[in-house]
Amino acid sequence: MATIDKYFPGLDGVIASETAISFLDVEREKIIIKGNDLIDLSKDKEYIDIVNLLLEGSLPSTIDKVKLEEKLSSNYDVPSELFNILQLLPKQTHPMDGLRTGISVLSGYDENIDNRSLNKERAYQLLGQLPTITVNSYRIINEQQPVYPQKDLSYSANFLYMITGENPTELEAKIFDRSLLLYSEHEMPNSTFTARVIASTQSDIYGALTGAVASLKGNLHGGANEAVMYMLNEAKTVEEFEDILREKLLKKEKIMGFGHRVYMKKMDPRALMMKESLKQLCDKKGDYMLLEMCEAGEKIMVQEKGLYPNLDYYAAPVYWMLGIPIPLYTPIFFSARTVGLCAHVIEQHENNRLFRPRVNYIGEQYV
Ligand code: COA
Repeated sequence: MATIDKYFPGLDGVIASETAISFLDVEREKIIIKGNDLIDLSKDKEYIDIVNLLLEGSLPSTIDKVKLEEKLSSNYDVPSELFNILQLLPKQTHPMDGLRTGISVLSGYDENIDNRSLNKERAYQLLGQLPTITVNSYRIINEQQPVYPQKDLSYSANFLYMITGENPTELEAKIFDRSLLLYSEHEMPNSTFTARVIASTQSDIYGALTGAVASLKGNLHGGANEAVMYMLNEAKTVEEFEDILREKLLKKEKIMGFGHRVYMKKMDPRALMMKESLKQLCDKKGDYMLLEMCEAGEKIMVQEKGLYPNLDYYAAPVYWMLGIPIPLYTPIFFSARTVGLCAHVIEQHENNRLFRPRVNYIGEQYV
């Protein structure tokens, strides 16, 4: 039987691309984005700083930021027919599938779809439109009226306002913004790989993003944040949560929110930042239950499996305490990641070679 080369299941450890966008320096616990550490940036920068960094290559000045906020808010609107299309979706449709449909629909409205040089402008357009599509796909599927953006709020404050229907406090807006920043870009996860594979056929950015939504929906990837919250909600006390985890481990089930292909047996540095945000929310609300449950879970997983939390483990309780409906957790992750995905699609198109790997054939013998 022909064996072409060494096979790495799940492409574990395989270098799939050269990129100047980002790199997980696991040893030094840094997430490098265009030469900057995302964890350092998360301490005093905002999501739109990262948008500028990823799409323009540098951190923005104060004036650049004002202009960028204006640019994003000028792109909030979506074709009105899009809402009519979302209305036709069956009521059990997950908002990720609504989002996938919504992004797919946008391609038909792009009169210059074959002009790849407009992709950066498209990225800004998509970043503006994504919160509108994300929130309204959820609302329309749930037979609620669409909600419209408030252009006088910042990008993230408006996103959170559209989700909850209330103007967020400064702390809430800041914490939500940090979650978007931490989700913005993360080297070569499955969804980014998917987007680059699609882009490598010279397909368009909408198609690449549509594929990435499907990839990110899975529990082993972005879907984990929703799964974590459903698991936390199964328990009413710390002890109950510990019992649930121990039982799952006995049954050899995977515990959502733990483990990572790249960090493996190390803590995802983004999780630490989100845990800090969770603590701030608990302090503000005087309710420490979710933090205590999460910390107890963390202890069990380290002791029993040597596994540490990833970002989704702490993003889930943060979103819960911000009053965000669980089915929106993964769509929010995707919206935040859109900027990273667009940067990768642009880079792929700029220096393209078609992805076309081979297989180890283990089927029937042939002559
Ligand atoms: N809970 C329990 N066991 C876990 C685990 C988890 N969350 N994550 C990994 N493991 C175990 C596996 O069961 C496997 O054990 P085994 O060798 O005894 O069979 C071993 O660790 C390796 O796991 P594997 O799934 O092969 O690693 P991977 O690199 O392919 O997967 C993830 C990485 C992220 C998919 C995996 O850790 C996982 O499923 N985590 C939960 C989902 C999640 O939180 N996803 C978000 C990622 S950011």
